[in-house]
Amino acid sequence: MKTLIKALNLIFLFILIAACQNESESVGEKQLTIIPLPVKMTLNQGQYELKGNSVIYYSGDELLALAEYLSDQINISSGMELRTQQGTGKGISLSVHDDLPATLGQEGYKLDISKRGIEIAAGNTQGLLYGMQTLLQMIPQEYEECAECGEDELEFQYVSVEDFPRFKWRGLLLDVSRHFFTIDEIKKMIDEMAAYKYNVLQLHLTDDQGWRLEIKSLPELTAKGAWRVPRTGLWWDREVPQEGEAATYGGFYTQDQMRELIEYAKFRNIDILPEIEAPGHSLAAIAAYPYLSSTGRKYNVNPGSKFYTIDDNSICAGKETSYEYMEKVLTEVAELFPFEYVHIGGDECYKGFWEKCPDCRKKMKENNLKDEKELQSYFIKRLEKILESKGKKLIGWDEILEGGLAPNAAVMSWRGMQGGITAAKAQHHVVMSPVEYAYLDFYQGDPAIEPPTYSMLRLNKVYEFEPVPEGVDADYILGGQGNLWAESVPVFRHAEYMLWPRAFALSEVLWSPKDSRDWNDFVQRTEYNLRRLDRADVNYSLSFYDAIITPSKNEKGELLISLDSELADNEIYYTFDNTCPDDHSSIYKKGEKLTIPKDADTFRVVTWRDGKPLGRIITVKLDDLLKRIPVL
Ligand code: ACM
Repeated sequence: MKTLIKALNLIFLFILIAACQNESESVGEKQLTIIPLPVKMTLNQGQYELKGNSVIYYSGDELLALAEYLSDQINISSGMELRTQQGTGKGISLSVHDDLPATLGQEGYKLDISKRGIEIAAGNTQGLLYGMQTLLQMIPQEYEECAECGEDELEFQYVSVEDFPRFKWRGLLLDVSRHFFTIDEIKKMIDEMAAYKYNVLQLHLTDDQGWRLEIKSLPELTAKGAWRVPRTGLWWDREVPQEGEAATYGGFYTQDQMRELIEYAKFRNIDILPEIEAPGHSLAAIAAYPYLSSTGRKYNVNPGSKFYTIDDNSICAGKETSYEYMEKVLTEVAELFPFEYVHIGGDECYKGFWEKCPDCRKKMKENNLKDEKELQSYFIKRLEKILESKGKKLIGWDEILEGGLAPNAAVMSWRGMQGGITAAKAQHHVVMSPVEYAYLDFYQGDPAIEPPTYSMLRLNKVYEFEPVPEGVDADYILGGQGNLWAESVPVFRHAEYMLWPRAFALSEVLWSPKDSRDWNDFVQRTEYNLRRLDRADVNYSLSFYDAIITPSKNEKGELLISLDSELADNEIYYTFDNTCPDDHSSIYKKGEKLTIPKDADTFRVVTWRDGKPLGRIITVKLDDLLKRIPVL
């Protein structure tokens, strides 16, 4: 009997040790769920139980709205309804102090969960909101999955967080010109941006394909410029407007709607940066007011057909009436948007019509401008003067460097990092937004199965983005931005597909310390956060689960295929025999170069993990793979 009791005791001890090990593992797992990763996060043993009758306490009147926001968000995630009350007590406490560590800066916060309850403290409401976003990501999944059940208890791991951003500009751009998105859709994007601690939303409000902002002194901009003939199909391949055809696709935001959106975003720590494109990309404005171009020709708003260098889409830099027009637009924009910057575009301006324009030639002569680049620089410098007279700073795409940068302009570097490097070395502020890391309009997986766009940008590449190049003074790099151009984004659901999870990766690049980046860890946190997106009914892409196909040729010119995956922990199966691959097909061995069996015409590949299919099956003709190999 004694031996039996001893044996039972041993078993009991063993179970206890195993349980403790599980507990510390689960502590570890919880650490993996926050995006962007906090600067400092210490997990402690124990859990705080937040009850349904708990209270959100706040330290002053100015925090009431934030306390109510937190209560609403907890309710959406868990069904729990928490009261809010001014004062202090155990539950959740929100407070603003001025004696927090200086390292927290303007946007930092402290979050402590212990037997004292949940305490979020910051130097201001901005920091407090970020602390709340971190807490919201800590709501245990099992309760979140039961949002309708009205659970009356949430368990939070004891933790101590001190957190602040690496960069002050953490932006995303939404192109509302190429396709129109409603105010409610933009609000939905803002909600998700706030959850991942972004703080700038650039709205690309004007382009060749639509003018989207009410300008009261120039009503034709929206009466005519906001509308184009309806088309679907590939962008740039669409039929031009036909004689008498009604322009029924489009829309615009009234100034009242925009004011409401600005306020909505501001509450969530997000500034809206308006972009008014000039002098190029201006066909919608020119369609509304033909006197704006060098030729004065009449045009329609472009529906996604070829027109560049054929139609005159540049505002004439020679005529004074162009500057009068810009002054009217920028005056209303400066009054409407509280953000310190206005983006004036400046990219891809076709100057062929300027070359033949007598007004442009005259302006160049009068001002000793040696070429059209200097004429564009003159134009941008005049815009800067207008903006400065309204108390605003100018920011533009890196083409504004050409012909001489306006004295105080900030540069958004998109044609790689070089424009940003040049501008920072000339002591101008820079936002890094290079095509190779930050163009969220590019497809994110194999082109055989992704909706087509200009080029490829995978999730793991976004995660490698480093906004401060070597040899550049980091003080001039305000931060970075991901750009979602919308030529191939006809509906908002697809905008979400393009944004997430790549915008998770970018949020971590822009918020978390550089040396804390860890791809495998990020993937796990991404998977957790995708379930958050499911609950918020936000679309996203799972392309990062798919195989990566890299074709090459041997010395005889024969096709070879290498395979890879963005993830570390999956297998890759493939076929050449026109069957669907699964875990009984040929398995790919890392580093192999597959040769093509005689007469094979199609390649298929799929990833598996833990005995289940993971990515999509990619089917691609071998001839098409050959075409992907660059001709040297
Ligand atoms: C740009 O992508 N043209 C800024």
